[in-house]
Amino acid sequence: MPQNQITVEFKHVSLRRPDKQSLTPNVYRNLVSDLNFNIYQGEALVLLGRSGSGKTTTMKLINRLLLPTQGEVLFNSIPTHKWDEIKLRRKIGYVIQETGLFPHFTVERNIGLVPSLEGWKPKQIKTRSHELLHLVGLEPGEFAQRYPHELSGGQKQRVGVARALAADPPMLLMDEPFGALDPITRLEIQQEFKRLQQELGKTVVFVTHDIQEAFILASRIGLMYQGELVVLDKAENFINSQHPEAQAFLQCLSH
Ligand SMILES: Nc1ncnc2c1ncn2[C@@H]1O[C@H](COP(=O)(O)OP(=O)(O)OP(=O)(O)O)[C@@H](O)[C@H]1O
Ligand SMILES: [Mg+2]
Repeated sequence: MPQNQITVEFKHVSLRRPDKQSLTPNVYRNLVSDLNFNIYQGEALVLLGRSGSGKTTTMKLINRLLLPTQGEVLFNSIPTHKWDEIKLRRKIGYVIQETGLFPHFTVERNIGLVPSLEGWKPKQIKTRSHELLHLVGLEPGEFAQRYPHELSGGQKQRVGVARALAADPPMLLMDEPFGALDPITRLEIQQEFKRLQQELGKTVVFVTHDIQEAFILASRIGLMYQGELVVLDKAENFINSQHPEAQAFLQCLSH
């Protein structure tokens, strides 16, 4: 697997927003600070961190849902502010924390959304949707024609994953996509996803606050703490990290 080609570069990236808690005007705070790292083609980078540490913000800086207030993010060597937003997002599948399915579209139509925007033929779209439903463990005969409100939380999440994979983008951003699954299904889908990611060679950024999940999926783990990336290392080295926040997460493994 090619490991040295850079897909995404964060160059001293910060994102500042007015601090609404402050009583004094013009006080700002950083949601993320001085992020400076690369994401390599074909790797599975897991961003680990407690709630509010900046994981989702970091993801949104990759597909230009957010722009840095300092520094720049490059995708395929081009800064995100120079990318056409639509073209960029077609290259980057995105599974959001709240699934974001369109409520008035069936499961099949939700999954086929990007392929249909790309002009695929209806028959091709149907075949692809059904193939992906199989992949995420949902029987197409039972689920393809349902609407999102007719699904459980975990089933919605799986449709979200299928939708992100539909047009076969080279990169995937996945924001806690398996959070609503029971532990058994979760382990199954984690293992299945790991196999798939290695087989397809996709570049994946995967957000979680579950260190166990991080170890199953990651080639590298990036630990976020208060808007900073405090550790970035191979999964096997992460276990030896002395950073107090890494230690706090590692404690969770022994419980
Ligand atoms: N638009 C915004 N304006 C101001 N502050 C924001 C905005 N969006 C997020 N934040 C704050 O930025 C910080 C990082 O948020 P972010 O959503 O990146 O965290 P996270 O690590 O994804 O957390 P979680 O695990 O709970 O999803 C939080 O303190 C959050 O309250
Ligand atoms: Mg988040």
